[in-house]
Amino acid sequence: MQNPKEHWEMVYQSKQPNAVSWFQEHATRSLELIHSVGTSLDANIIDVGGGASTLVDDLLRDGYKSISVLDLSASALDVARKRLGIAGRRVTWITGDICDVNLPAQTYDIWHDRAVFHFLIEPSHRAAYVQQVMKAVKPGGHVIVATFAPDGPEQCSGLPVARYAPGQLHGEFGPSFNLLEHVSEEHKTPWGSVQHFVYCHCLKPH
Ligand SMILES: C[S@@+](CC[C@H](N)C(=O)[O-])C[C@H]1O[C@@H](n2cnc3c(N)ncnc32)[C@H](O)[C@@H]1O
Repeated sequence: MQNPKEHWEMVYQSKQPNAVSWFQEHATRSLELIHSVGTSLDANIIDVGGGASTLVDDLLRDGYKSISVLDLSASALDVARKRLGIAGRRVTWITGDICDVNLPAQTYDIWHDRAVFHFLIEPSHRAAYVQQVMKAVKPGGHVIVATFAPDGPEQCSGLPVARYAPGQLHGEFGPSFNLLEHVSEEHKTPWGSVQHFVYCHCLKPH
């Protein structure tokens, strides 16, 4: 079996960005949740496992000035960077595995992840992810994580995933995190099937 980095590099090298199941023309739910935070446009935002998502395009359009996009796949980040052209120079691009990449401490006001945490089926990887949140998000910062819901698919991109109800997803971060809101999404894939997602918006403790 391929290692995860090889898997994701192959995906982004062999498929058009709008031909993958998770493609969204606009990351509407994510944008709504990020706007609902009500931070200034100087807020430090990181899109974890952002891949080639258009979320960064829309955040730049909306005037956010300090955006980082992290992904295991350099090819994915290249797709987004090329699409953005000159505007892409205003983004911090980070290639790395969210479980062990060295992130700056107490830096992010908003941590966003759509469809990445659910690939962490090993408890030790989930614990490492939560440690990264504890390190890199500012005290009182916002953590927005979206995964497949309990009635979502059992696999994504051919890889097994864990599926979560809002309480379970919140529980992965622990009771010190305050669950502000959870919303669901019926995501339509480019070929018209429906995937159920759950988004949790939590506050990191002070
Ligand atoms: C299903 S895609 C979602 C992409 C994007 N968040 C979106 O909603 O369009 C999952 C992404 O997570 C990235 N990924 C998977 N495991 C990762 C890890 N351990 N660390 C960082 N990125 C990872 C993949 O390269 C891929 O871009």
